[in-house]
Amino acid sequence: LSSIQVDVGGLEPGSQITELWLGKPVFIRRRTPEEIEEARSVDVSSLPDGLARNANDPSTADAADENRTLDEAGEWLVMIGVCTHLGCVPLGDAGDFGGWFCPCHGSHYDTAGRIRRGPAPENLPVPVAEFISDTVIKLG
Ligand code: FES
Repeated sequence: LSSIQVDVGGLEPGSQITELWLGKPVFIRRRTPEEIEEARSVDVSSLPDGLARNANDPSTADAADENRTLDEAGEWLVMIGVCTHLGCVPLGDAGDFGGWFCPCHGSHYDTAGRIRRGPAPENLPVPVAEFISDTVIKLG
């Protein structure tokens, strides 16, 4: 099976779950208004990786927060939880930018999963995903 369905109905703002999909951890986070605001206030031209890296968008889409979230309001962020440096699994609610931190060599990702500091070359990738009901996300 290449696609799975995840019920996110019980997820409160500011929390996340990790699902295993195709052998990789997938982070599903329901962001708080503060996390959304933080992510949307960043100047895209200042980001180390200026591309959205979102499998649901054209490959040329820029890394604006709006191009990375599942919903227009930006509450839902779904990403492959594998550091783009050498493949460790970053920790949530950590790092200097309020998002994820990879302890292997010190990569800091922001609340949109974009690389902000450290050796990782790219933003955490967003996999093919969509809401198929009010509370269920389909991966793949
Ligand atoms: Fe994450 Fe190296 S594997 S910083």
